[in-house]
Amino acid sequence: MNALINLKGTRKNYRLANREIEVLKGIDLDVQKGRFVCIMGPSGSGKSTLLNIIGCLDRPSAGNLDSGSGREIMGIFRGLHRDGTTVLLVTHEREIAAYGERVITIRDGV
Ligand SMILES: Nc1ncnc2c1ncn2[C@@H]1O[C@H](COP(=O)(O)OP(=O)(O)OP(=O)(O)O)[C@@H](O)[C@H]1O
Ligand SMILES: [Mg+2]
Repeated sequence: MNALINLKGTRKNYRLANREIEVLKGIDLDVQKGRFVCIMGPSGSGKSTLLNIIGCLDRPSAGNLDSGSGREIMGIFRGLHRDGTTVLLVTHEREIAAYGERVITIRDGV
């Protein structure tokens, strides 16, 4: 198996006004290295939610993204940066932020 992205049973819920909204209801997705893949779906279907999880900007409520995938994706960013590309990455995760040369922290808008 040479999947760069490997999602298994990925679920994401949002809590809104004391209601739990199920957005991703168990996504299984493998993307092999070097592919050009499109995620298509109507507004509100969960595309951005899914991308945020794939890009390590957000965590799933349940299920998993193979942690090897996260590392490999960060390796790609690192390679792009080494080749002169400017990279600006947004994350909740300290371990992911540690890949940057400079970490800017924002809290309550400041
Ligand atoms: N932070 C959040 N808090 C609560 N609900 C959210 C949040 N983010 C997204 N949602 C809800 O999750 C569902 C999926 O939203 P998402 O933004 O992933 O859809 P999308 O497929 O990217 O839509 P679009 O095509 O309009 O960009 C929507 O019902 C949305 O209202
Ligand atoms: Mg969207």
